[in-house]
Amino acid sequence: MIIEDHIPKVGESSIQEELLNCLTSEPKMLPSMYFYDNYGSELFEKITQLEEYYQPKIEMLLLRSTARKLKGEIKDCDLVELGSGDCSKISVLLDEIPEEIRQSIVYYPVDICKEAIERSACNLQEKYPEMAIHGITADFLEHLENIPGKRRRFFCFFGSTIGNLSEEKAFEFMENLGDIMSRDDRLLLGIDMVKDIDIIERAYNDSKGITAEFNKNILKVTNSHLGTDFDPEEFEHVAFFNENNSRIEMHLEAKKDLEIDIPFFSEKIVFKKGETIHTENSHKYTAESISRLADAAGLTMKNTFTDEKEWFSLVEMVKV
Ligand code: TRP
Repeated sequence: MIIEDHIPKVGESSIQEELLNCLTSEPKMLPSMYFYDNYGSELFEKITQLEEYYQPKIEMLLLRSTARKLKGEIKDCDLVELGSGDCSKISVLLDEIPEEIRQSIVYYPVDICKEAIERSACNLQEKYPEMAIHGITADFLEHLENIPGKRRRFFCFFGSTIGNLSEEKAFEFMENLGDIMSRDDRLLLGIDMVKDIDIIERAYNDSKGITAEFNKNILKVTNSHLGTDFDPEEFEHVAFFNENNSRIEMHLEAKKDLEIDIPFFSEKIVFKKGETIHTENSHKYTAESISRLADAAGLTMKNTFTDEKEWFSLVEMVKV
């Protein structure tokens, strides 16, 4: 097992500067990467198990049912998973393919979180001793070129993570991926689809309040970097479907006028009651908008695997 590190070391001062800029911009926002400290990652894990949060359940079922159809294309490949996290999704796929195929591949989990790569690569190696694993810590949005490629590659990008990118970033990412893909390469993309608005909104407003807790945790992470004393209870979790942009927007809304000191910068962040910090977007796609993404990347949709309600799709793409 190999683990390769491509994450540039960012100083605390540039993190502070970024957070300060985001919180003093109009409108205010926070980059969603700051959700994920240890507690945030734990909460996210809980989100994926929520009754209302349908995505992971459907995606897992689709992975299970399509793995056997794809096994011929996976054989003798470099299997590259972008944003591999805890590797739970790829495990479902790997469980369904014969050991002889696992023996023929090298699995490359790519994730920005070093601990996630180390932990999951070790667990996976124990589970599948016959499979070669080469972990890569990298921000694949910036550094796709760091992903080794000696032979045919089968790229996986699950969890509808593409939906968390702005439209512009999603296109840029797909174009970059299209550029590094060769003729025989494949991409398997997991995407959450447009559906009844109530169902989408319920998924991000769960009855146990876990998503609200997760959203508010970004303020605690911000406090730890900026020395601020945001009180998460002075903000309300707001998540709604923005139809024009076909996305769930997550915000934190100030319950009253607030002034937050930033000791490191001797400045204040001023909130009017009702003003929000925009913390996340989750774009929902249609067959048409997915095909526009494919077009931009010079790819074509070879197969679409979806559940009977068409709530979630696994789309297999190849170079045109
Ligand atoms: N990509 C998934 C989604 O948009 C998972 C996710 C990312 C998420 N950020 C989130 C889920 C914030 C809930 C809240 O649904």
